[in-house]
Amino acid sequence: MSKIVIAIDGFSSTGKSTIAKQLAKQLNYIYVDTGAMYRAVTYFALEQQYIGEGFFKEEALIQNLDSIHITFKFNPDLGFAEVYLNGENIEAAIRTLEVSKYVSPVATLSEVRRKLVEQQQLMGKDKGIVMDGRDIGTVVFPEAELKIFMTASAETRATRRYQELLGRGHQLSYEEVLENVTTRDHIDSTREDSPLVKAEDAVEIDNSDLSIETQLDRLVFMAKTLI
Ligand code: C5P
Repeated sequence: MSKIVIAIDGFSSTGKSTIAKQLAKQLNYIYVDTGAMYRAVTYFALEQQYIGEGFFKEEALIQNLDSIHITFKFNPDLGFAEVYLNGENIEAAIRTLEVSKYVSPVATLSEVRRKLVEQQQLMGKDKGIVMDGRDIGTVVFPEAELKIFMTASAETRATRRYQELLGRGHQLSYEEVLENVTTRDHIDSTREDSPLVKAEDAVEIDNSDLSIETQLDRLVFMAKTLI
């Protein structure tokens, strides 16, 4: 059986990672959440006070990128790999609305992208990988055998993210989440370096009205025809 690269791109909170994780499990592939890597850099920038309300010391962050070491470690209890920054498990810490607020400006920096894309390409060099993000099918693995582009209405996505954050005990309003989702989409789609666009050869899936099971069945079917 040959191994392939599966690239899943799309807007914020389209449920990419939920599907990508389950798809990887079914195929016995590695799953990499590249959004977690941009979030890890943002978490570092917030900790070092390079970014915050009304300021962004881009140069300071760029000069200190070598101090950032991002790793993933499989957690058998959760069934997926958690993200670590310089040895510290930051899986929960990067899922806050604060990190979500600053991640898109951080992800516009070409120096940050170059560093993370290099690491992502290394992780996928032996194939057998499902990677989700914004530029996987266009920049990281333009030769990926299967490319998916996920969409859903902004309201559907904000509702999903709102419920997920509430479930984790965060105090916030639906409007704040909707605002974050639409702002991130705008920054991600209009940035100069590697904007979020559908790769020409990607299969588009609008999952506003699709269950996780239906999406997964479709993706497993598509992947198996290529393996
Ligand atoms: O996927 P997630 O919503 O966690 O990604 C957080 C942010 O990281 C995105 O809004 C985007 O700004 C950035 N990102 C990116 N390229 C990727 C993955 C994420 O620019 N491949």
